[in-house]
Amino acid sequence: SILISYCSTPDLHSPGTSGWRTRVRRNENMEKLQNDYLFPQIEMRKMAHIEQYPDAKLISLGIGNTTQPVPEIVASAMAEHSWGLSTVERYSGYGPEQGNEALRKAIAEKVYGGLGIKHTEVFISDGAQSDISRIQARPKVTVAVQDPSFPAYIDTAVIMGQTDGGNNNIVNEDGSTRAAAAGGGKSGKNIEYMKCNAENGFFPDLSRTSRTDIIFFCSPNNPTGNAASREQLKQLVDFAMKNGSIIVYDAAYSAFIGEEADDCPRSIFEIPGAHQVAIEISSFSKFAGFTGVRLGWTVVPEELLFSNGEPLIKDFNRIVTTCFNGASNIAQAGGLACLTTPEGLEAIRELVGYYKENAKILMETFSWLGLRAYGGQNSPYVWVHFPGKTSWDVFDEILEKAHIVTVPGSGFGPSGEGFIRVSSFAHREHIIEASNRLKNLL
Ligand code: MLT
Repeated sequence: SILISYCSTPDLHSPGTSGWRTRVRRNENMEKLQNDYLFPQIEMRKMAHIEQYPDAKLISLGIGNTTQPVPEIVASAMAEHSWGLSTVERYSGYGPEQGNEALRKAIAEKVYGGLGIKHTEVFISDGAQSDISRIQARPKVTVAVQDPSFPAYIDTAVIMGQTDGGNNNIVNEDGSTRAAAAGGGKSGKNIEYMKCNAENGFFPDLSRTSRTDIIFFCSPNNPTGNAASREQLKQLVDFAMKNGSIIVYDAAYSAFIGEEADDCPRSIFEIPGAHQVAIEISSFSKFAGFTGVRLGWTVVPEELLFSNGEPLIKDFNRIVTTCFNGASNIAQAGGLACLTTPEGLEAIRELVGYYKENAKILMETFSWLGLRAYGGQNSPYVWVHFPGKTSWDVFDEILEKAHIVTVPGSGFGPSGEGFIRVSSFAHREHIIEASNRLKNLL
């Protein structure tokens, strides 16, 4: 199991005395994790800073935590649903584990209209991160991730035992190996890092990438903010087809792709053939302010088959119905209001626009400072390069001297070293204040 395994070594302490131990051995996969998960590490440093400087007006541009209110029409729908639960007529208990049919239909129609996605292929979740873990409920598959990338892919892979015990090195593009990541998890030879940097347009050189069973791919990417082009995603789908791999496409930030960026697909299913090689994970967190409400979804096309011909959707459904009792019905009522009312759709557009304007201010700030900054245009994240410095040094300096929390790029993988990620999820006045402080500091 994930957490424990049985150990027969007897313990010398008496039960009840200090230091007495159970006979349950720690899961060795947990020992492979080098550090705490990235965001709690940052939270700890933030809290220590607040303790040290209680009067400093700390600005948090670290974890991508939304700050703007949930649109009123959406909050009203959730309140209304919530009140209904206090009545005999409108009370409801468990719903379908896969989610309410109306919401599944709304997602299939509004998000994937014209892309051949049936509502029965949409599974409602309590957020993207839970499904990133749930889909890994099978050990011993090989995994590729963009480097840098959202640390949950690697860390959940390590916890689920995807790393090979004997080798904790990362496989380079040229086949050589190097030391494990500075971020959350040590990689094993079952995990392949696909280097994505400014030199390769933040898209991996697939001709030098080994075949893996699973390819995690996030676009717009967290943390670099880069949105892959149609041509690049076509290459990715072709690569998965050639190798018989499955792409886990993280589209949590797709709403940030601007209308003018018509060359950047919002879904992997815009690419011919993707229905046979990809699942897509997404979330209401960032575009609707649901980071605390918790609601997301995963699309698993019926056409996606395992090597024995069994459809993946059958197993995904089995896992969802076993490991999950469905998303909150209140949250689902909110999700429905987001997607099915003109006011909801307009409110989402405004929310996304607000954060994108913040990102623009941050981009202008770093450009004024003469630093190279990436992302920020089709993404809420700005990825800033500090040549010759380590990410943690830059993080510490900005925190210490400007009282601003960022995220050290190395926490997202080895290629993130020398970068920091700055989030635009903040109130406008905080972004402006942060911009002024950075201009004074740097
Ligand atoms: C981030 O800051 O990278 C993410 O927003 C955190 C998350 O979604 O878990």
